[in-house]
Amino acid sequence: MPTRDLSSFGVTGDQLIRAAQLLREGKLVAFPTETVYGLGANALDAAAVERIYEAKGRPHSSPIIVHVSDFEMVKSMAAVWPEAAQTLAAKFWPGPLTLVLPKKPAVPDLVTAGLATVGVRMPAHPVALALIEEAHIPIAAPSANLFTEVSPTTAEHVRCGLGDRVDYILDGGPCTVGIESTVLSLAEAMPVLYRPGGVSREQIEAAIGAIFSATEKPGEGHASPGLHPRHYRPRTRLLLVEDGRVPEQGSGAYVRLMHAPQHNVNEIVTMPTDAAGYAARLYSVLHTLDARNFDWIAIDSPPPSDDWEAVLDRLRRAAFER
Ligand code: TXA
Ligand code: MG
Repeated sequence: MPTRDLSSFGVTGDQLIRAAQLLREGKLVAFPTETVYGLGANALDAAAVERIYEAKGRPHSSPIIVHVSDFEMVKSMAAVWPEAAQTLAAKFWPGPLTLVLPKKPAVPDLVTAGLATVGVRMPAHPVALALIEEAHIPIAAPSANLFTEVSPTTAEHVRCGLGDRVDYILDGGPCTVGIESTVLSLAEAMPVLYRPGGVSREQIEAAIGAIFSATEKPGEGHASPGLHPRHYRPRTRLLLVEDGRVPEQGSGAYVRLMHAPQHNVNEIVTMPTDAAGYAARLYSVLHTLDARNFDWIAIDSPPPSDDWEAVLDRLRRAAFER
């Protein structure tokens, strides 16, 4: 199979072949997707998938998304393919949308945390697609960070966070979407949004009609397994603030949308005022500021409108008090 030209991402054919070979051997390979970097392993090899949990320090109750490069792979994982899946895949794949569907027995229980469903997604990043094609296997991959830490959007973030817990890092440059995929379940009577992300609720509803949020499902209080409130959290104390009301005490940084800080701060980062531009920068800013060891990071609350849903979700989790 001729290898695609990935030179605009700084990836050589040799690197791609090496990464694919390691995946086939049951090793862990970090790779870029359009959302965040993934920590990949052969989804059909339970021993390889177990190494993902070990490397991340991730509890076994958190199911892992399987990444595919074509529909044949999807159909080898998912037991059913409803019309809504077809509609959404035609519109948003490859892209930042994970579909949760009833699984086939071939998917190891370790991948799905024992659930009867599997989350699948066809990523849009050309390096990710080429890697899956080259390896010729579906790739299980959570974000390539230690459990509860901020997801990586560059290869350097992966190196700093996971070091030699990963066998190989395929560096394809910075991720363009910057926050994780939308997770939508089609395995229930109604479509359920488990995690807002790169594809907005509005976009999904325009395609298939009304969807539920995991938290507003009648009679059921629990969200997606593994969706812990304290996910995506930097080490530094993080505060969501209004009108520039940053703390008066201690050292800190202000992540600014439109206000001026009401007290002195050590550092100000001015963010893009559109949700997509903001999302693309958010984790990188958090990684950088977290490394400064300030007492706090104060973040301007973004507007409560629909297009900010995914960003707000991540900020609330990051600001969740331990
Ligand atoms: O953008 C992304 O989705 C990135 C890149 C690497 O693709 N991956 C990612 O994986 O964010 P992770 O493991 O950090 O988050 C996966 C989310 C979790 O909230 C998990 O609960 C949910 O997807 N999930 C996976 N399989 C599921 C299933 N069968 N049922 C319900 N939720 C599932
Ligand atoms: Mg994650």
